[in-house]
Amino acid sequence: MTDPDVRRAGAHPGFARGRRLRSTPAMRRWTAQTRLAPADLVLPVFVKEGIAEPQPISSMPGVVQHTQDSLRQAAHEAAEAGISGLMLFGIPADKDPVGSQADAADGVVNRALQHLRADLGDELVLMADLCLCEYTDHGHCGVVTPAGVVDNDPTLDRYAAVAIAQAQAGAHVIAPSGMMDGQVAAIRAGLDSAAYTETPILAYAAKYASGFYGPFREAAEGAPQFGDRSTYQMDPPNADEALREVAQDLAEGADAVMVKPALPYLDIVARVADAVDVPVAAYQVSGEYAMVEAAAANGWVDRQRAVLETLTAIRRAGAGSVLTYWAVEAARWLR
Ligand code: PBG
Repeated sequence: MTDPDVRRAGAHPGFARGRRLRSTPAMRRWTAQTRLAPADLVLPVFVKEGIAEPQPISSMPGVVQHTQDSLRQAAHEAAEAGISGLMLFGIPADKDPVGSQADAADGVVNRALQHLRADLGDELVLMADLCLCEYTDHGHCGVVTPAGVVDNDPTLDRYAAVAIAQAQAGAHVIAPSGMMDGQVAAIRAGLDSAAYTETPILAYAAKYASGFYGPFREAAEGAPQFGDRSTYQMDPPNADEALREVAQDLAEGADAVMVKPALPYLDIVARVADAVDVPVAAYQVSGEYAMVEAAAANGWVDRQRAVLETLTAIRRAGAGSVLTYWAVEAARWLR
């Protein structure tokens, strides 16, 4: 046994006294390797066209589809709580095969961006989720061929147009989540051509075809009307592929990358965080939220403790920021 080992083991050589550093809350705070702060959190929000009052989402207790007004109020509260940003999703009144409302200047999300930018300036990072699934009548993330196949390359032109509309409306960050090949390059080219050279792209780079998106499809009203998303989103058994997707998105010009979902994919978060030197975000998705809420409602887990543990775990795995429906509440606890 070397000298330091003896010192640690004291009178009983053969074991170390790890409990010494866990003895009091102050001791644990001092030795905590991962810290969680309000600034690490981003709140996803839903804004719906044509409703007079916020609508509760039954599978996500505590989360609502906002009106333009209630969203403005929620954004002020988010800023007050000290979180870093919002990720905006829109639910239009009218859907069509190409998702026209996604890039209409008076489309629901673009109006919301205009309001929030006017209200808050640069106080919060306003991120626009860029996808077509909430806007298309068939519920797929891109345009589809007559045979019902999601058509990659024509979708890219739509994404570029949507990115320009969102930047024009006041988005600070464009966040493509559709998992089309080449989407980051197409969006970067579109933004640059419209002189939005300074608008960054947060790429949902490693986005899995997950069962944990279930409640979101109620929230965003974007469930596919036929088939599923497994021909474009990643297959859950794959890990190396996440690194290829991330590398590809960075090569195409992404400024930051995201892994999604978070908790069932902490290995992916860790590998991506090790592999890249850009900001890495993780999205704690609707099903992760619903799972803890349901267990807490039944008294099976301590809600606050479970929530903070999941957020800490995602940070510990290497994510710099976490998108979570608990962002504002958690930020208040952390203050
Ligand atoms: C749409 C999109 C989805 C989510 C974020 N953007 C759903 C999907 O891909 O089916 C899921 C978010 C959540 O579950 O909280 N492209």
